[in-house]
Amino acid sequence: MSLEKIIFEKNNDLSKIIDKKKVPEHVAIIMDGNGRWATKKGLPRSYGHNKGVNVLKEIIKASKKLGCRVLTVYAFSTENWSRPKKEVDFLLDLFSKVLKREIEEIHQELIKIKFIGDLTPLTENLKEIICSSESLTKHNKNFLLNICVNYGGRQEIVKVAKELALKSSLGEIKPSEVNEELFNSELLTQGSKDPELLIRTSGEKRISNFLLWQLAYSEIYISDVLWPDFNEFEFLKAIIDYQSRNRRFGGIESLPNESFEDSRYSS
Ligand code: FPP
Repeated sequence: MSLEKIIFEKNNDLSKIIDKKKVPEHVAIIMDGNGRWATKKGLPRSYGHNKGVNVLKEIIKASKKLGCRVLTVYAFSTENWSRPKKEVDFLLDLFSKVLKREIEEIHQELIKIKFIGDLTPLTENLKEIICSSESLTKHNKNFLLNICVNYGGRQEIVKVAKELALKSSLGEIKPSEVNEELFNSELLTQGSKDPELLIRTSGEKRISNFLLWQLAYSEIYISDVLWPDFNEFEFLKAIIDYQSRNRRFGGIESLPNESFEDSRYSS
């Protein structure tokens, strides 16, 4: 039965369908479609970004309520610098304003906030706000919100490679000791489990340089809804779809009566 049909049969009450024991611990989101949403309405793109902030707040609340522990969102990629300067300035200013306005509530909700990416080219003002927000919330244990700003997955992998090469040249590690565990320990997301689920809005079917290492085995859910129209209902639909997946991690399902070889087909 299709997801739409199941939802219809339950009168749109998704809480009746969700399996509380199979909630993903870490969800990553590519919040896409702000510009198109605004343009469709004949509004400047900035309206889409402003509306996108309200949606992000709704999704943080929804994922926390559901029992997720980590949410990682792509707010500004290394490629986003190529946008018109006016839009880049608007976005960076929006991050400062939203953080200043919301940080007390974020803290009261016991959310730890972490910025992921190369923050060096950001304005001193934004860097200070980021630093004070991270330091205020650093002991919060309920929920981790990772905000990726000036983030690129390839850049992150290169950074880890450089750090390991440096450690090796200083004799702190041997090249033969480099393994996935060591690599993980140098990632910007170190300490968090890899996302079980990646959601991308606006119908685009790309990873766009987001968490390239961490998404190796994540389930991908593409929503056709533009980010400013995304909401708790659409988020829960993504979770239900995720719960219907069969995560095999490259293996096969173990079926007790199925043998590897069948004499009818052996040579
Ligand atoms: C993608 O839509 C969205 C962005 C590049 C910005 C996302 C930022 C927010 C939702 C604000 C988050 C706020 C904080 C404080 C983290 P797009 O502009 O690429 O849309 P388009 O593909 O339709 O052009």
